[in-house]
Amino acid sequence: MAYYVINGGKRLEGSVTISGAKNAALAIIPACILAGESCRLENLPHIEDVHLLEQILRMMGAEVDFTADGGMRINPKTINNRHVTFDMVSRLRASYYLLGAMLGRYGYAEVALPGGCSIGQRPIDQHIKGFRALGADVQIQRGIITAKADRLVGAEIYLDVVSVGATINIMLAAVGAEGRTIISNAAKEPHVVDAANFLNMMGAQVKGAGTDVIRINGGRKLHGCTYPIIPDQIEAGTYMIAAAATRGDVVINNIIPTHLEAISAKLMESGAHVIDGDDGREFFMRVSCENRPRAVNIKTFPYPGFPTDLQQPMMAYLARAKGNSFIVENIFENRFNHVGELQRMGANIIINDRTAMVEGVDRLFGAPLYASDLRAGAALIVAALSAEGRSEIHNIEYIDRGYEYFEQKLRAIGADITRVEE
Ligand code: EPZ
Repeated sequence: MAYYVINGGKRLEGSVTISGAKNAALAIIPACILAGESCRLENLPHIEDVHLLEQILRMMGAEVDFTADGGMRINPKTINNRHVTFDMVSRLRASYYLLGAMLGRYGYAEVALPGGCSIGQRPIDQHIKGFRALGADVQIQRGIITAKADRLVGAEIYLDVVSVGATINIMLAAVGAEGRTIISNAAKEPHVVDAANFLNMMGAQVKGAGTDVIRINGGRKLHGCTYPIIPDQIEAGTYMIAAAATRGDVVINNIIPTHLEAISAKLMESGAHVIDGDDGREFFMRVSCENRPRAVNIKTFPYPGFPTDLQQPMMAYLARAKGNSFIVENIFENRFNHVGELQRMGANIIINDRTAMVEGVDRLFGAPLYASDLRAGAALIVAALSAEGRSEIHNIEYIDRGYEYFEQKLRAIGADITRVEE
């Protein structure tokens, strides 16, 4: 086990480059199964979740290797095991994308039912609703989901709830369904668009991704391709918040500004300066903050609303704001696990159901802290960086799942952070 030691109070200054998007990678790697040939993915982040998915594909028999310039090559033709066990799924929820990919490719899939997690129960009823609409017989017995169809046929599917996972998973299966599928009330996140673009690069016909109606003309033979995934807007937002929280001045490179509009707007509303531009090669965002931020209210919503994945780091920032901030978590029912840890640093936060009232304090103080999930861990890092004194952050295996080279990137912009192996 390892933990971070952070001595807070240092302004973050300098520039940081954003890695590939975790939530795009976790969808696009399984999608390679749909091609009859090898695919090559570029700009994948070196994070635990990607390594886990690589291991799962290997356990299924796929050939996975890395090219000299860091690309991942996946050859799905050698897959000989279509049973994704609970051991695999329990370590990586997103392995449920293998359901849609295998159903779309083989007409058969066996994947263990993912449990809930610390942020909520996270059912997959909408995924299953979509597979059944496409003609699959989906059964759940002894914790295993078995989906099979002699022939998948395009259908009109309305999602009862805007779901990133269901939108992508149904898209993967629909690519293998004869005729046209329409997914209404679809999620519009950047990684949904990236997954659709990847499918089209393989020769699929997916239109409307990024809107709430996605149309797929399925049943086409797909071929291999080379594809660079998009930069991670949640990683970028985390650094933007950390820069403002430490009253620093940081340039964030390799971003897509439209993906960051919600977080930029809220940081500017709080009094931080956010400038975006391009150096002729890539876009960048510059975030600085000289004074104590003003309180702002946050409501998380599906994209393009304020992302739930930045709710926790944003709360750490607002814990030191002038005034009271009201944060409403509309997506997950239990995404305030970081609050107790922030309170131990001196934060003044009251929770009432899905609303947290954050009464800003001028100072936070370092303490021994325990991460409960990936973005809670990011929130504790933001708080520790802006607090006075020494903090230890434990359970950082959660953080390793979603942030590439986190301590190295933070140290390069002035953070006093050390990883200690216990
Ligand atoms: C994806 O999770 C992300 N994970 C999450 O990021 C992110 O928080 C979430 O989207 C929302 O943006 C990946 O992409 C791997 P949902 P997902 O289906 O797809 C309910 C991170 O930190 N729902 O959009 O599981 C669900 O309970 C992670 O990177 C159903 O009711 O999220 C939730 O309340 C955390 N039935 C809401 O919809 C379903 O069948 C949104 O969930 C599916 C979802």
